[in-house]
Amino acid sequence: MLTITDGDFLRLINFVKANYGIDLSKKKQLIMGRLSGTIMSMGFESFKDYVDYLLKNKKPEDLELMLNKLTTNYTYFMREEAHFKFFTETILPYLEKTKKNKVLSIWSAGCSSGEEPYTISMLLKEYFGSKPGWDTRVLATDISRNALGAAQHAVYDESSLKEVPPTWKTKYFVKTPEPGIYEVAPLIKNNVIFRTFNLMEPIHFKLKFDVIFCRNVMIYFDQATKEALVKRFYQATNPGGYLLIGHSESLNKENTPYKYLMPATYRKE
Ligand SMILES: C[S@@+](CC[C@H](N)C(=O)[O-])C[C@H]1O[C@@H](n2cnc3c(N)ncnc32)[C@H](O)[C@@H]1O
Repeated sequence: MLTITDGDFLRLINFVKANYGIDLSKKKQLIMGRLSGTIMSMGFESFKDYVDYLLKNKKPEDLELMLNKLTTNYTYFMREEAHFKFFTETILPYLEKTKKNKVLSIWSAGCSSGEEPYTISMLLKEYFGSKPGWDTRVLATDISRNALGAAQHAVYDESSLKEVPPTWKTKYFVKTPEPGIYEVAPLIKNNVIFRTFNLMEPIHFKLKFDVIFCRNVMIYFDQATKEALVKRFYQATNPGGYLLIGHSESLNKENTPYKYLMPATYRKE
């Protein structure tokens, strides 16, 4: 394994924080562990040469590779089920009553390999399936094109489906010829639109959102970055809309414009 000097470590983590919001200040070992192989296979002999090259050229494919190595894309279907129960029992009935144009706008921000937006798409199908006229498309974004590639491929190992109700496995997945490998069915897949988006950037989507899922993403951000992002989310939320964050995360109640409803669940009044 290569070692990184304090100076090169600081140059690298400052760059990552400024551009992607991700705080790696306590991750020196992780950086050395996860990047050494990549650096050597790129032909560099030291972290110094790699960091010089990376920061000078800022080539999208090199930055992408680094981000893929340093962030975690871990996720699975029906993760943090309490949110999905609340979504089905409280949020959707409210939206059904109030959205006169029958257009919902739901955003999975930091969607990783797609399990979260596809879960949402299945819940929407369950709820609105027999109700005509509803446009319930889900926007799913991530900074990692690698993760988005997997999301669009939509093929998953059985282990990722462990929380999925058995009937859904037959309704919303297609078994592939490979044992234990499932593909998301077109009716679920076609209801999700994937885009690359860095959450550090201004939010300029056409519609404001009724629900934003941003779960297990802001854990990597420091307080100031997180608060600024939550303010941008707030601007992009319809009145009465919701922000759902990961259950291991929290927002400082004094500094967030959203109203706290219950753990990991906020609302714009
Ligand atoms: C652990 S996954 C969360 C997946 C899913 N939301 C869940 O809760 O299971 C975190 C995702 O956040 C993405 N991410 C990290 N920083 C980001 C940024 N600045 N902009 C957009 N996505 C980011 C990562 O690429 C990764 O796919």
